[in-house]
This record gives sequence, structure tokens and C-alpha cells, in this order.
Amino acid sequence: MSPQTVGRVLVVIPTYDERDNIEIILARLRSAVPTAHVLVVDDGSPDGTGKLVESLADDDDHVHLLQRTEKRGLGAAYVAGFRWGLDAGYDVLVEMDADGSHSPEQLPRLLTALADADLVLGSRWVPGGSVVNWPRSRQLISQGGSLYSRLALGVALRDVTGGYRAFRRDVLEGIDYAGVASQGYCFQIDLATRALRAGYRVVEVPITFVERERGESKMSGDIVREALIRVSQWGLAHRRDQLRARWGRRR
Ligand code: GDD
Ligand code: MN
Repeated sequence: MSPQTVGRVLVVIPTYDERDNIEIILARLRSAVPTAHVLVVDDGSPDGTGKLVESLADDDDHVHLLQRTEKRGLGAAYVAGFRWGLDAGYDVLVEMDADGSHSPEQLPRLLTALADADLVLGSRWVPGGSVVNWPRSRQLISQGGSLYSRLALGVALRDVTGGYRAFRRDVLEGIDYAGVASQGYCFQIDLATRALRAGYRVVEVPITFVERERGESKMSGDIVREALIRVSQWGLAHRRDQLRARWGRRR
């Protein structure tokens, strides 16, 4: 199946201080999948990312900008972007980082897999997937986080925290996406878990994740801690529900 047949595609790219990256990623994306539209959701970047995108959008009707004024986190930016895209009638919504870690050239692979799925996760931790230039510490956090989520939540996914994904619009409409936990990893874990539990077909396809060369990561210890605490809480609630269901059946 070619990318065209999945319907109208909107790639949502959240940005905070990505002036040195955004123009390159937009050019790569526009040539990798020329039919796709792209929405940059900028949180008032002090470095002027929004202004730059505004001028790029003036010259290209496939490029759009949602300019917000305050830094509110990755999750909140995606929620706003998804709402914009659903209101505008797009059939498929894609998550992609601005910093080059998610290669636009691999997007056709995600869209192709959407033919037999409702949600496609770009995965670093399935055979064929990889990370390039990541410090050992980040690899451990990522693989450990996925393993912990898998055990605590009972979700059969190898890469639960990844941020390169393609959603059919029905998935977002079916899982109350606006109610998901707000920050980086949590947001991704929560979305994937909700989609699985709601019975949507979720598949992982291998990607090569390349660490950014320019600018800085916004992931912080706080974001990792938030994820750890929330996943533990969700995990306990999940086990409690399972036990209740079992006792309920015996009575
Ligand atoms: N609008 C907005 N607001 N964008 C933001 C914010 C924010 O508060 N924080 C980060 N971003 C944007 C960045 O500008 C970038 O385009 C993207 O979100 C990812 O941010 P990075 O800071 O590059 O994150 P990362 O590389 O550490 O994390 C990536 O990998 C994680 C899993 O390992 C992301 O894809 C995460 O979603 C993912 O969980
Ligand atoms: Mn990054």
C-alpha cells in the first residue's frame, strides 16, 4: 500500500528552540512524503523557531504553524496539534520530533504498516531497529522504561516510550487523547496503553533513531521520575482490576 492510500496525512512536529533543525527536517519531510501536510506546534520558542516556520509556511501550503505562547511540555503540544488536525479533517496523524532523530525517509514505512493497523509505533527495540549516538545512560533508561512498563502494565510492546508514531484518526477519537498524562515519556506510554486496551491494532515497525546533532534535549530527570511514578500507579491499579475481575468470577 502506498502512503497515498491511507488518506490525508498530517505530521505534527512540536518545537521548543529548534531553529537550527526545523528548516532541514521540513525540507526532508516534504521531499520524502510530498503529499503529507505538516503542522509545527511551537511553544513560543525564545530562539524564534515560530517566526522562521511562519515564513516557511507562507511559501508552502503544506506547512502550517500552531503558535502557542508558553512552554507547556511535549504532551500538551501534541494534544493541541491533534485537535487542530482532527478539526481540519485529516485521516492520519503522525508524531515526529524536530531534531532529526526521527528520519522522514522512514515515514513511508510507518504509513505502509498502517494498512493493517490502527496505530503504528516506530520502534528502536524490535529486530532491525536501532539507536545511533545515544549515550549508554539513555539506552538504559529507554529499554528499562519499556521493560518496566511491559511488566507493570502488561502491554506487549518493545518500545513504549518512542515518539515516532502514526495514528488513524479513529484511535485518537476513541481514547480521549486530551485526557492523557502530560509529560514526555508518560504521554507516549499512556497513549499506547490506552490504544491497546481499547482493542485497537497496534504494531511496531523498526526505526533507526539518530541522536540530535544540534540544540539540546528537553528531557529531564523530572520527566523520567514522573513516568516512573505514574507507570507504577497505573500498574498497581491494573493489577487491582485484574484481581477484582478474578474474584468477581468466582463468586
Ligand atoms: N511545543 C513544545 N513544547 N515542544 C517541545 C517541548 C515543549 O514543551 N518539549 C520538547 N519539545 C519538542 C522538541 O523541540 C523536539 O522537537 C521534540 O519535542 C522532542 O524533544 P527532545 O528534547 O528532542 O526529546 P528527546 O529526544 O529527549 O525524546 C524523544 O525520545 C523519547 C523516547 O526516548 C521524544 O521522541 C520523546 O517523545 C520520546 O519519549
Ligand atoms: Mn531529541
